[in-house]
Amino acid sequence: MAQLLVLVFGIVGLWTQVDCLANNKYDDYSLVRIYPANETQVEAVNRFQDHEDTIEVLKGSRGINDSLDLLVAPNRINYARQFADENNLGFEVKQQEYGRTFKSVERVPRRRVLRSFSIYDYNSFSAIQEYLETVARRRPELVTLQILGNSYQGRRVKLAKISTNPNAGNPIIFIDAGIHAREWVAPAMALYLIHRLTNDPDARQNELNGVDWYILPVVNPDGYEFTRSSKANRLWRKTRSKSNGNCYGVDGNRNYGFKWAVSGVSNNPCDRETYAGPQPFSEPETQMVRNVMLENAKRLKLYVSVHSYGQYLVYPWGYTGDYIPKEWKKLDSLARSVSDAVQRAGGKPFRVMSAGKWYPAAGGSDDYAFGAVGVPYSYTMELTDGYEFVFPERLLKVVLPQFYEGFRVFGAQIKKEFKNSRVPRDSDTNDNED
Ligand SMILES: *[C@@H]1O[C@H](CO)[C@@H](O)[C@H](O)[C@H]1NC(C)=O
Ligand SMILES: *[C@@H]1O[C@H](CO)[C@@H](O)[C@H](O)[C@H]1NC(C)=O
Ligand SMILES: [Zn+2]
Repeated sequence: MAQLLVLVFGIVGLWTQVDCLANNKYDDYSLVRIYPANETQVEAVNRFQDHEDTIEVLKGSRGINDSLDLLVAPNRINYARQFADENNLGFEVKQQEYGRTFKSVERVPRRRVLRSFSIYDYNSFSAIQEYLETVARRRPELVTLQILGNSYQGRRVKLAKISTNPNAGNPIIFIDAGIHAREWVAPAMALYLIHRLTNDPDARQNELNGVDWYILPVVNPDGYEFTRSSKANRLWRKTRSKSNGNCYGVDGNRNYGFKWAVSGVSNNPCDRETYAGPQPFSEPETQMVRNVMLENAKRLKLYVSVHSYGQYLVYPWGYTGDYIPKEWKKLDSLARSVSDAVQRAGGKPFRVMSAGKWYPAAGGSDDYAFGAVGVPYSYTMELTDGYEFVFPERLLKVVLPQFYEGFRVFGAQIKKEFKNSRVPRDSDTNDNED
């Protein structure tokens, strides 16, 4: 098996190198934005489909004036324009030759990884792993790493558990990032959270006082490394598993086992965006996140899945726009407080709403946490706006501290609402019964 893996990686490595030299198919694509002006039009833009499969939907619209973003092959611009004209929609070619704007990833030699590590860079998966090990070594009283398992290609996935007292039965905040490979700002945010929570003296007094933070910075490391392997792969979204046929990957955020595949998914393994997988939890990556939730179900009070882009903060349900949970006001008002804090720190406010309002999509981790595990606060956070998936590295310094202020509001609420409702460990319960 090990030999087979070495062989497979060898071939993949070789192929990737060849691929680097190949043209990036997005070089000639245009980024197009289509704007709905009323609710009927919002529904219309989210029904947009390209049967020739040479237009990729990067982002749907979640409201009036919120754009549908498309990546369009040169010979299909007219098709997109016609769709806009027929529906009286605003149409903008935001950027031509879109793929040419992608920067190549600097390959840092392995032994230089630590010296050159910066929390404000887009780091390789191995540099991220080394950072986690370093933090756990330097702050053993605060950080433990739990190995959750291996990704499809065998990368070891580690959860950082940050706690001033792991045995206290504190409420848990669980944050994951990077289920979607191309959303690089999300793992960067997760690492920044770990950095602040473990280095900022203020965090021990506040965010970590009576609340434990579990942070999983890269849920889909195979996909993440794939997007780093060449410019042509920069916009990969899914995992890298292979089942039948010749296509790779599953959309991890359509793969969770709650109302699986009832809406907003593709059943086609070759669909680049929303293939839900052969069955719920077909992917080792989503199984690992599920296991963290189930193992900590009683103490888990807040779950945030960090994504990009669009500057949305959305809550269940994602699978339908027909209902919202009866607790929606709590979900909504906490999200608005988070957004306000980010805005006070100089950031852009989030657009807050239920995830399925404009385009229902089933099998997301937020619905699973809320609906199947019973986590009282559950969100999907779409970071940044205006740069699509290729958020400039130089701006991480600006936005990560702003978003952190939002996470502090999350922490304060969980502390206020749940700090004194400690869940006794099983052994404690037995002692009491004796
Ligand atoms: C939509 O955008 C246009 C032009 O930017 C603006 O005039 C209009 O007020 C916006 N409408 C809403 C509902 O935001
Ligand atoms: C929405 O806008 C389109 C285009 O301007 C218009 O034709 C349509 O009547 C509007 N619908 C509603 C419900 O306002
Ligand atoms: Zn995403």
